[in-house]
Amino acid sequence: MAENIYPIEDQLVQRSEREAANGHRGAVVWLTGLSGSGKSTIAAAAERKLFERGVFARVLDGDNVRDGLNGNLGFSLEDRCENTRRVAEVAKLFAQTGAVVLCSFVSPTRAMRQTVADIVGPDDFLEVFVNTPLEICEQRDVKGLYAKARAGEIKNFTGIDSPYEAPENPFLELRTANLTVEEAANQLIEALPL
Ligand code: PPS
Repeated sequence: MAENIYPIEDQLVQRSEREAANGHRGAVVWLTGLSGSGKSTIAAAAERKLFERGVFARVLDGDNVRDGLNGNLGFSLEDRCENTRRVAEVAKLFAQTGAVVLCSFVSPTRAMRQTVADIVGPDDFLEVFVNTPLEICEQRDVKGLYAKARAGEIKNFTGIDSPYEAPENPFLELRTANLTVEEAANQLIEALPL
């Protein structure tokens, strides 16, 4: 814990005032799933739909965040924990601003996702399991990463030589094998308690 710091809060525009102005509540929608499961695509489609409805929404995506804020982190368990911890702190700030934050991160362990829930708070944390079987993700292999992982060119690849723990009780599960992106994004935004 940092010493000699005095966070301000009372003087700031309050979350309730922001939410009243925005016309909806803030929340952290946390999409978890294997690489290639469709997290980023669904999050982007949902962001677009929410934006068109006048909702203050913003995607935070693994590849994007790792290009900047978290550019110093790799894919060891420790680095993934730090990646998701930092993102949770950022998402919390967005949610306090009344935004609906759509976070798309592999976030492979339950403990990691629990840390996110603890940081953002249980009322704001909406876990969405993008449930796509490994075989389908590997067949799609949009970025060619599974082929590299199978060839041993990428280590610690989720689902290949690094574990993925499915959520036990997610807010929402999207089985993308039977859904179009449009359908998945619609299911997601219709489920949101805004
Ligand atoms: S994590 O586990 O939450 O910290 O990962 P995340 O920040 O979401 O980053 C996942 C994206 O990084 C690429 N990539 C890998 N994914 C999994 N395992 C390994 N070893 C790896 N190396 C690179 C990949 O493009 C992931 O993007 P998505 O969109 O999930 O396919």
